[in-house]
Amino acid sequence: MRGGTVVTPRGARALDIAIAAGRFTVLSPRGRLGAAGHDEIDATGLHVLPGIIDPHVHFREPGFEYEEDWLSGTRAAVMGGVTTVLEMPNTDPPTATAERARAKLALAAGRAFCDHGLFALLDPGHPDELRPMVRQGLVVGAKVFLGPTTGDIPTLDDAGLLAGLATAAGLGLRTCVHAEDGPTIETGERLLKAAGRRDLAAHLEARPSGAETLGIERTAAAAAATGAPVHVCHVSSTDGLAAVERARAGGVDMTAELAAHHAFLSMSDMPADGWAIGKVNPPLRDASHPPQLLGALARGIIDMVASDHAPHLPAASRGPDIWSVAAGFAGVELCARIYLTAVTDGRLSLHRFAQATAEAPARAFGLWPLKGHIAVGADADLTIVDLSARAPISSSRLHGKATATPFEGREAVAPPIATVIRGRVVMRDGELLTGPGWGRPVARSPIRRRVARPVRGWARSD
Ligand code: DOR
Ligand code: ZN
Ligand code: ZN
Repeated sequence: MRGGTVVTPRGARALDIAIAAGRFTVLSPRGRLGAAGHDEIDATGLHVLPGIIDPHVHFREPGFEYEEDWLSGTRAAVMGGVTTVLEMPNTDPPTATAERARAKLALAAGRAFCDHGLFALLDPGHPDELRPMVRQGLVVGAKVFLGPTTGDIPTLDDAGLLAGLATAAGLGLRTCVHAEDGPTIETGERLLKAAGRRDLAAHLEARPSGAETLGIERTAAAAAATGAPVHVCHVSSTDGLAAVERARAGGVDMTAELAAHHAFLSMSDMPADGWAIGKVNPPLRDASHPPQLLGALARGIIDMVASDHAPHLPAASRGPDIWSVAAGFAGVELCARIYLTAVTDGRLSLHRFAQATAEAPARAFGLWPLKGHIAVGADADLTIVDLSARAPISSSRLHGKATATPFEGREAVAPPIATVIRGRVVMRDGELLTGPGWGRPVARSPIRRRVARPVRGWARSD
C-alpha cells in the first residue's frame, strides 16, 4: 500500500506498507518499498487508519433476525470502515452458556464480513457457564445490565454483581456494564406513567443522570471489592463521567466508552414529530452534556468510542406512547464518519481517534497487540478514509436491515474508501470485494490490569 498518510501510535507519517500472510511486514518511508508481489493499494491523498474496532454492537441473531443478522450487520460494519465488532449478548436466547456462544459463532461463520468477538452475559441463572466460555475461547469479555433494556435480560442486584465480577476477574476478563440503576428506573417509570406522561422527555426523566451515576458507583464498589476490571458502556452524562473519574481515583480499573449519539446529539436535536427515533438507553440528555463528553474523549479521560448499533424495524419505533416504542437505532456504519467529522472540525485529534477506535478497545478486551495498531507483526487491518470528502447521512444509503438514524440529514465525512481485514480488501469504494465468510472470531489473551497498584480483591485467579 503506497502513498497514504499512515496513522501509527507514534503519529501520522508518509509511509508505504507491505503486508504478507495477513500481517504487516514492513513500514517504510514513502517511496522505498520494492515492487509488490501481488496486489497493490494506492492510498495517495488518503489517510490510513488502524482498523476500527467497534466494541459495542447488537447484531440480533439468534432471535431477532428480522432486525439484523450476522450477514447484514457485518456488511454494514465493513461499509463503515469497521474491521472488528464485539457483539452484545441480549439476543434470544441470551449468550449465557458455552453452547449458546458456540451456536452464535456458528451463525457468524461463513457469513461475517469482518472479524468478531462475543460478550458473555453474566446470568445468575447460569453461574458456572462463564468458565467454559472462557476456557473454550468463545468470548472476549462479560456483560451485565444493571437496569431494564431491550430483551428479556436478567438485571443484577449488588450480590449478583459482586459474584459475577469475582468470577469474571478470576478468568482475566473485563466486564462491560450497562450502568443504569434498575430500581431507580422502575420507580421513575411507574410514577411517570401514573401521571399520564407519554412523551420522549418522560423517557429521559425516568432515566435521570442519577440512575447512571448510581449504576457506575455500584459497579465501582463491586469492582473495588473483587479487583475486577470493568468497562462502562455508553457514558451519557457529565455526572456519570465524574463517577468514572472517582472510581479510578479509588484504584478501580475502569475503562469507559462514548457512543456517537451521546457525543453529538441532545434532546433538543430531536424533531417534535419524529422524536421516537431518539429513544435510546441511556437517553439523549440536554445540550450541556455532549461537548463535555467529547472533550473528555479528546483528552483521553473517556478511552474509546462505540456505535451501540441497536437496530429496530420502523414498526417498533412507532407506538401510541414513548413507553411502547423500542430503544436504540443503527450506528455501526456511521460511527467512524461522525467522529471523523469532529476530527476535521478540529475537536478531536487523529491520534486520539485512532487510539479510541483501535488501540483502546484492543487493549481493554485482550486483542492487543495482534489488533489495534499499525505495526509490524500485527493483523493487517486498515480503515482508509478521505478526510476531504463529505456527504450527508442518509439511512437509505446504509446496509443493515433497519437503518433509521437520528443523524439523518447531517453533513459528515464521506463513507470510508476501503476496509482491509487481515490483508484482504473487503470493501473498496462501496463495493464488497471479499466475503462473506472472510471474517473470523478474534483470539483473546488475558488482559493486564491498567492500574499500577492492584487493589486486593476476592477474585480467585487460576
Ligand atoms: O437503547 C438501547 N438499545 N440500549 C440498550 O442497552 C440495548 C439496545 C438494544 O439492544 O436495543
Ligand atoms: Zn447498554
Ligand atoms: Zn448496547
